[in-house]
Amino acid sequence: MGNLADLRSEAVGCTRCALAGGRTQVVFGVGDPRASLMFVGEGPGRDEDLAGEPFVGRSGKLLDKLMAQEMGLDRSRCYIANVVKCRPPLNRDPLPAEIQACRPFLDAQIELIDPAVVVTLGNFATRLLLGVTDGIGTLRGRSYRFANGHLVPTYHPAAALRGGAEIVAAMRADLVRAASLLTASAR
Ligand code: URA
Repeated sequence: MGNLADLRSEAVGCTRCALAGGRTQVVFGVGDPRASLMFVGEGPGRDEDLAGEPFVGRSGKLLDKLMAQEMGLDRSRCYIANVVKCRPPLNRDPLPAEIQACRPFLDAQIELIDPAVVVTLGNFATRLLLGVTDGIGTLRGRSYRFANGHLVPTYHPAAALRGGAEIVAAMRADLVRAASLLTASAR
């Protein structure tokens, strides 16, 4: 296994699935490669495809706000990646074949960064990393042992933007849970 820079170079040239044909940029990931906290979203939207950075649109603004308010962190202190690195057309859900084609990149990112806590945002990241098919509403509200640390599932910020106060409150509680696990793992 190489390093994150090598992995990024490989991703930038990737043509393993059809999403390669529609992308402006590969959205590989952003943040501190040595972070103990990692967020995993679904896939780039229009803003991310143009910027080449995950979560820079409306969902990202909400994520930044909740991260700051509940964890006292900004994005430079964590690492943020997605299940698929290229934008699905018209923001449709990523297809199973696209998720599988991209999975080696996410697995390698997790192995190289080796975070103490992974927060999965929404159904796609949570189901993929936990290897289950339940929905996020069922899976969230607790933590799971994952890799060398813990996984905390929460709603995708886009669901919070659509769903309102209850979803935002649940996300806040999940981020507080993640912050406690981070503190405990730092001892
Ligand atoms: N939604 C995601 O899942 N990821 C992004 O990077 C942006 C929006």
